[in-house]
Amino acid sequence: MLRTHTCGELRISDVGKKVVLAGWVDRIRDLGGIRFVIVRDRYGKTQLVFTPDSKAYEAAKELSREDVIRIEGEVKKRPEDTVNRDMPTGEVEVYVSDMVVLSKTKALPFYPGEEVKEELRLKYRYIDMRGGKVLENLVARHKVARSVRNYLDSQGFVEIETPYLTKSTPEGARDFLVPSRLRPGKFYALPQSPQLFKQILMIGGVDRYYQLARCFRDEDLRADRQPEFTQIDIEMSFVEREDVLGLVEGMIKKVFKEVLDVELPERFDRLSYEEAMNSYGSDKPDRRFGMELRDLTDYFKDTEFKIARSVIDSGGMSKGFVVPGFASRMSRRLGDEFSAFVRDFGLGGVVWFAVKDGQIQSPTKKYLEREYTAIKNDMELKEGDVFIIAFHNDWEELCTGLGALRLKIGREFFRDRAAGFDVLWVVDFPFLEWDEEEERWVARHHPFTMPVLEDLERYKDDPGKIRALSYDIIINGFEVGGGSIRIHDRKIQEKVFELIGIGKEEAWQKFGFLLEALEYGAPPHGGIALGLDRLVAIISNEESIREVIAFPKTTTGVCQLTGAPSDVSESQLAELNIRVEVKR
Ligand code: AMO
Repeated sequence: MLRTHTCGELRISDVGKKVVLAGWVDRIRDLGGIRFVIVRDRYGKTQLVFTPDSKAYEAAKELSREDVIRIEGEVKKRPEDTVNRDMPTGEVEVYVSDMVVLSKTKALPFYPGEEVKEELRLKYRYIDMRGGKVLENLVARHKVARSVRNYLDSQGFVEIETPYLTKSTPEGARDFLVPSRLRPGKFYALPQSPQLFKQILMIGGVDRYYQLARCFRDEDLRADRQPEFTQIDIEMSFVEREDVLGLVEGMIKKVFKEVLDVELPERFDRLSYEEAMNSYGSDKPDRRFGMELRDLTDYFKDTEFKIARSVIDSGGMSKGFVVPGFASRMSRRLGDEFSAFVRDFGLGGVVWFAVKDGQIQSPTKKYLEREYTAIKNDMELKEGDVFIIAFHNDWEELCTGLGALRLKIGREFFRDRAAGFDVLWVVDFPFLEWDEEEERWVARHHPFTMPVLEDLERYKDDPGKIRALSYDIIINGFEVGGGSIRIHDRKIQEKVFELIGIGKEEAWQKFGFLLEALEYGAPPHGGIALGLDRLVAIISNEESIREVIAFPKTTTGVCQLTGAPSDVSESQLAELNIRVEVKR
C-alpha cells in the first residue's frame, strides 16, 4: 500500500505515530512561514503541516489544489485553540517530513464542491465526485443494494441474470434497438424490464427470483427518469398479493434501518386507487402535507353561483381542501395563479375563502357566503385557514387538478412539513386506461397482470371499471415500485390481449413463447420491481436520480463524459447492413 492510514482515520490516540497518507490537495494556507495543507480522500480530510525545517517544505510551496500527493510524517496533537470539532480528524495534524507528488494537476475547470452547471459536472464527473455528495450517494447506493441482496438471500431468493439482447416486451415506452450483424435486417431490443423472463423462470420452477436488473427505455427524460436505470426485480410463485407486499415491506424496513437507522412502521398503509385519488388527487400521494381533498358537492346543490350551478346541473361535482394558517399569505393574485395552474389540468379555475377575524374573506364572498359559512362551520376551520374549491364534470380530472395544486402548495410553502418518510401501498388500480392517441384500451400496468376475474364478466360493457391485482409502493409522493399478480392461464392471457386490441395472430407472433409456456404447467405467481435509483435518491435526500447514478445521461439522453450517442463509421454501418438517412 502507498499509505498506512486513510485521510479520515487519524485520532488523538494516534499522536506520536509515524504515518504515510495519500490523497488530493484540498486546501492550502500559509500562516507565519508555516504551510498548512488539507489532504483529502474518500474517507475524509487531514491537516498537514509543513515547517521550514522539513525537507518537504520547498516542494510544498509548488503544490496546487487537487495535486495527488503522498506524505510521510508524525501525528501531533493540535494546540487547543486550533482544534476543529467539525472534522473527525480535527484534533490532530501531521507534521510532514517527506512528500512525493504522485500526480500534478493542471488548473481544473472547477473544484470539488463548487456550484457549477450540471452539464459541466457531468462532463467532469470525476472532479464532481471527489469528496462530494455524489460519492456519498454512490456509497449509500451500494449499501442499499447490499442490504437488498442480503435480505432477499435470507428469504430464499436466487439472483439470476436475464438477457440484455432480447425481443421487445411492451412496457409502454419505446425500445432501444440493436441491429443484428448475423441476421441482416433483424434487431434485438434492450429490455424495458425482465418481465417475461422472470415469469418464465417461475414456470421453470425457480420459485423465488430476484435481480438488480438494468432496464432500458427510450422515453422522454425527467428528474426521476433515465433511459437506463436499475430495478430491484422480484418474482415469486404460489403467492397472493399480500405475500408480495409483506415481503417488500420487510425489505424496505431493513434497508431504511440499515442505511439510515430509520424505523418504518411494521406494516405500510394500503390505499385503494379510488381512495388515493379522492383524498389526495394522485395515485402516488405524498400525505405528509395533510390537506386532504373533501367532497363538497352537497354544499353547492342549491347554489346560485353561475359556474358552480352549471357544473352541478350537468352532473358535475365539487371538491376542495383546507390550507391551514395560509390566510396571511393568500391574495387575489395568488388565487389567480392557482386558477391558471389548475387550468392546465382541464379545470376552469378555483374559488377560495380565508377565515380572518372569524369572518369569511373572499373575492367571491358576495356570491357564495352562505356556502362558505356552512363549509367553515362543518369543517371546523380555524382562524387563518384558507379553503380552496373547484367545480368540474370529470371526477378524475377534478381530483388530479386539485391534487396537483395541493402538492404545489405543499412543496412551495410547507417544505418544513416534508420531513420524514411517508410509505404506502396503492392497490386496486383500474386494469385498463383509455389511450387517446391510439383510441384503444391499454393495460395500465402491463398486459401480464391478472385482472379481478369477476370484474371481467361484470364490466364486460364498461371495461374501464375492471380492477387489476396490481400495486404500487409510494414513498414521499414518488412511485418507487410497481408490480402485480400475473396471469398464469393461457385463456385469460388471450382474453386480455383481446381486450387491449391485440388479436390472436398478433399475440402469438409477439408472445407465442409466453403463451406456449403458460400451457406447460405455469404456477400462480406474482412480483414487483422497485426503481433502485429512485429509492436511493429518496434515501439520499436528492431530487434528481442523476445524483445517485455514477454516469447519468442528461435530459436529452446525452452522456456528457463520453459524448454518446455519437457517429459510427461507414464500415461499421455497412457490416450491419444499415444506411442512415437523418430527417432534418
Ligand atoms: P414499472 O414499469 O412500473 O414496472 O417499473 C418499476 C419501477 O421502475 C422505476 N422506473 C424508472 N426509474 C428510472 N427511470 C425510468 N425511466 C424508470 N421507469 C421505471 C420506477 C417504477 O416504479 N416489469 C414491471 C414490474 C413488475 O410488474 O414486476 C415494471 O417494469 O420506480
